[in-house]
Amino acid sequence: PQDVGIHALELYFPSQYVDQTELETFDGASAGKYTIGLGQQKMGFCTDREDINSLCLTVVKRLLEKYSVDYSAIGRLEVGTETIIDKSKSVKTVLMQLFEPHGVTDIEGIDTTNACYGGTAALFNAISWVESSAWNGRYALVVCGDIAVYAKGSARPTGGAGAVAMLVGPNAPLVFDRGVRATYVKHAYDFYKPDLTSEYPTVDGKLSIQCYLSALDNCYQLYGKNYSKKNNSAFDLGCFDAVLFHSPYCKLVQKSLARLALNDFLTSAPNQRTVKFPGLENFNSVKLSESYFDRDVEKAFLNFTKDTFEAKTKPSLLIASQVGNMYTPSLYGGLVSLLLNKTVSELAGCKIGLFSYGSGLAASLFSITVTKDSNENSPLAKLVKNVQLIKPLLAQRHKVAPEKFEAYLELREKNCHKAPYEPAGAVDNFFPGTYYLAKIDELHRRFYERI
Ligand code: ACO
Repeated sequence: PQDVGIHALELYFPSQYVDQTELETFDGASAGKYTIGLGQQKMGFCTDREDINSLCLTVVKRLLEKYSVDYSAIGRLEVGTETIIDKSKSVKTVLMQLFEPHGVTDIEGIDTTNACYGGTAALFNAISWVESSAWNGRYALVVCGDIAVYAKGSARPTGGAGAVAMLVGPNAPLVFDRGVRATYVKHAYDFYKPDLTSEYPTVDGKLSIQCYLSALDNCYQLYGKNYSKKNNSAFDLGCFDAVLFHSPYCKLVQKSLARLALNDFLTSAPNQRTVKFPGLENFNSVKLSESYFDRDVEKAFLNFTKDTFEAKTKPSLLIASQVGNMYTPSLYGGLVSLLLNKTVSELAGCKIGLFSYGSGLAASLFSITVTKDSNENSPLAKLVKNVQLIKPLLAQRHKVAPEKFEAYLELREKNCHKAPYEPAGAVDNFFPGTYYLAKIDELHRRFYERI
């Protein structure tokens, strides 16, 4: 099959959020730390009415309805998540409740886990399936979802929650490039969840940033080599029209784009440097592995990439700044944001670079080429039109005061894994079509209803 890629894209985020300016005051952090320092505006969160199953049920149902996809058209369903509520039973099997009433049970695929990378692993599995001898002509549906919550402290403002669903098949408007993907996987204890009774990770913030940036350097360089070999031409940041990143917080993404320019700078021939990177001569002897926290390097390259950031990356940060780090869906929320902020003709023909990072660690840099057909009846126009319907929901959310947000997190903390359990949170403000947890019985079986 040719042009395997994304046909349909759906995003779900919770209908309530906490404002980061209010959270700064509430936490006693200096004004601007979360909003300017981290680049975050609002943070979506879940009450005890939502869990990983309900988030994924909502996003899958919404995608199938919005794009009028028949249940029997799905031949593979993959879930990527790090929000584990059962050590054996997958989220995928819970999602089968949507398919069974339609007599559809022959669907391959199961859950994949490694921090924020599970969604990308699920996506790669789906692409491989469509390209393989096992493919039966049907679509693959990739679902990524997470509830990102941190213990009280410096990491808490970098939480978020949400889910993304992607319909993958041949002859798609967003086509995955073949033969260029670059991956970097290593053993690290930067962020992990060893306490199975808690939703909170154990996190070494500084180490996680270093791991993220070193994975980015490595993936970018390998991608560049693969690109040059495949296309028989030089590679640099100019080869991408848009660059999307996993976004723990938006400021790290801006620094990451600057980091790619630093990579380009260091790999260009000395006589090219003065031409392509005027004013950066002082950094000729910088070493990547020693510059993760070098303020001078960071500042110079942030400044150098200011316009590139505005043009190629900022349009992909809408959901990240308004909802927060959704973990596995974060990068794909970036893709949704890009489609929200560009017109069909601007998108047509674009090459999009995507960097996925999951602590522990696993990372990949891959790319999408958007089809050139921007006709109003084209698959691309249909996709963009449907994605646009997500935008108004951001403004329809309800703001919750930090005190109440904290009380909800305490409620989740206290009742995590409790059975039987009757959730207390209200559901009347949920978006229409949202699945919510109705109850957990004494055997830990979960039951869901839909608004
Ligand atoms: N106005 C403007 N900026 C401010 C202010 C202020 N009043 N106060 C602080 N800042 C800036 C700081 O200078 C810093 O920016 P800089 O690094 O560009 O200089 C930024 O705000 C954050 O301040 P720090 O003191 O560095 O924050 P802290 O160490 O308390 O926490 C951290 C940040 C480590 C990211 C924490 O939120 C965390 O652990 N998050 C979870 C881990 C994470 O997201 N890691 C990233 C990759 S792994 C993953 O995806 C989970």
